[in-house]
Amino acid sequence: MKNFIIGMLCLSILQTSCNDSSTQENKIPETMPRKDLHSFAIPNLSVIKHLDLDISLNFDNKTIEGTAKYQIENATNANEIVFDTKDLQILEVNTESKTGITFTLDSANEYLGSALHIPIAATDKWVSIKYRTSANTAALQWLDAEQTEGKKHPFLFTQSQAILARTWIPVQDSPGIRFTYKAKVQAPKDLLVLMSAKNPVEKNENGLYEFEMNQPVPAYLMALSAGNITYKAVSERTGVYAEPEKLEKAAWEFADMEKMLVAAEKLYGKYAWEQYDLIVLPPSFPFGGMENPRLTFCTPTVIAGDRSLTALVAHELAHSWSGNLVTNETWEDFWLNEGFTVYFERRIMEELYGKEYTDMLAVLGHQDLLSTIEEIGAENADTKLKLNLKDRNPDDGMTDIAYEKGNALLQLLENTCGRENFDAFLNKHFSENAFKTINTEKFLENLNAQLLSQNPEWKTKIEVEKWVYQPGLPANVIVPKSQKFETINGILADFSTSKKVDKKLTANWTTHEWLHFLRNLPSDISLNDVVYLDNTFAFSKSGNSEILAAWFMHSIRLNHQPAFEPLANFLTTVGRRKFLKPLYAELIKTEAGKTFAKEVYEKARPNYHSVSRETIDAMLK
Ligand code: BES
Ligand code: ZN
Repeated sequence: MKNFIIGMLCLSILQTSCNDSSTQENKIPETMPRKDLHSFAIPNLSVIKHLDLDISLNFDNKTIEGTAKYQIENATNANEIVFDTKDLQILEVNTESKTGITFTLDSANEYLGSALHIPIAATDKWVSIKYRTSANTAALQWLDAEQTEGKKHPFLFTQSQAILARTWIPVQDSPGIRFTYKAKVQAPKDLLVLMSAKNPVEKNENGLYEFEMNQPVPAYLMALSAGNITYKAVSERTGVYAEPEKLEKAAWEFADMEKMLVAAEKLYGKYAWEQYDLIVLPPSFPFGGMENPRLTFCTPTVIAGDRSLTALVAHELAHSWSGNLVTNETWEDFWLNEGFTVYFERRIMEELYGKEYTDMLAVLGHQDLLSTIEEIGAENADTKLKLNLKDRNPDDGMTDIAYEKGNALLQLLENTCGRENFDAFLNKHFSENAFKTINTEKFLENLNAQLLSQNPEWKTKIEVEKWVYQPGLPANVIVPKSQKFETINGILADFSTSKKVDKKLTANWTTHEWLHFLRNLPSDISLNDVVYLDNTFAFSKSGNSEILAAWFMHSIRLNHQPAFEPLANFLTTVGRRKFLKPLYAELIKTEAGKTFAKEVYEKARPNYHSVSRETIDAMLK
């Protein structure tokens, strides 16, 4: 049963009960069907259309405070509008027809937060919500100056996907609900503020920044970042933001941004967001990248110094079409965002660097897919493309399946129907569904009507329903091959017996070749072998985050002591969950490893974003 907090006086998220029958009468029946299990909003009754956000960033007490004023559409004459909030203090609510509205804040669900019910009159065109975030807001990471590159200024960034936008803005937090926005953000004078919107390129004197996003976006693409940030243009419509200490390196690493954009447009149509910039965040950023419109958020761990990890940029750029333009309707359709994006990312990379290069990416991706299936089990329902996230945190169902099984299905479609046909279908998919949402069922309907109907054989060959609704990996998957990796397989086989690797053979290896080598070392290698490899190739000292992470897995398993100091260093500086999770998982397999992991984590935890903290907390508890 629900408790309600009612009224303007309820400034906190305490679960108090008050009596206010008038608000209760205004409530929409619980039985109203909701498409999105992860939002309390009922958009078919009353929905947001535009946001005017006016907030200030308070670095002293690590809170954001301000007002979110929404233009709303109430086509059904509903008598309330429902918002998502989590850990927010609602200070005051006004509508066009009434100030000091008596609102209702439901008791909190563990990961969904609290529904905010605002009574409205049928004629109301707007509602405004004055609010404050709490000190431990899940989406926000407030970094002290010491946690930044420059060590002089604090830093703040958000991570809203999947359902964390509601922790820093009261909003209808569903990927199926889009709105335009304007924002005014007051920051301390010496910080630059950026959003997923039209952005400034340099600081101003008063620390007050204004933003505009004229294309409708869902709440999970709301993003903000503030710090000692500088800008360097890469081309007329692309560029890089970073702390000044990192700016030149970042701009060099991502020099091909314009080429990627040109390739993407050639494939699937005009870029819809005018400008494409990228910000390199401090290392605690919990993801590799996040496709915030106009401004990809990116981990510094892809700055390898040799441009070898830039597929991530192609990936986030590709989301400008798959995800940001054509959006998954709910998180159960997540594969439509990520599977399409992986496919698109590899097409961009092929365009720029050729098939040999992309073959390596494809094989590594396929290895990820196989190990995910092995890890969670081929019968596990989370290996279906269409997820069932009922009563679950969407984060729990978001695995490599959406990415790599999703991509594998699209590869199969391309291969069966021919690239030209498939591209024509995809072009139509992006143009017909631009600024709309799509769910799995609708996609299958379109696929059947627009592509598979052209040839009955294709349909029976592909068995697309099986891919989408059945667990595991269908037998008709195309197993990618890489010529370069075949050579490495030979070297690995030799190593099995000779216990030696001829350094000359590896002289021209790129990151991907090293990754294939490290991932496929014989399972029975000994500590001696690991010592030999480290002495020969200095893996423990690698400056490449992917190589380091792959190497540490072996070092942990075989207790290769010289790697443990760099490992501790890595775990305390890098907050990217993709690296942390397997490393901690490997560590806690032994008692000594567990002790080490706990010691390191105690130091590292304050540096992690809540997204990573939650995962590692659960593993080490
Ligand atoms: N949108 C995702 C990140 C994400 C997914 C955040 C789910 C929250 C919930 C982003 O586009 C992504 O996939 N990033 C990858 C990198 C990519 C190259 C596969 C990552 O962070 O590792
Ligand atoms: Zn992605």
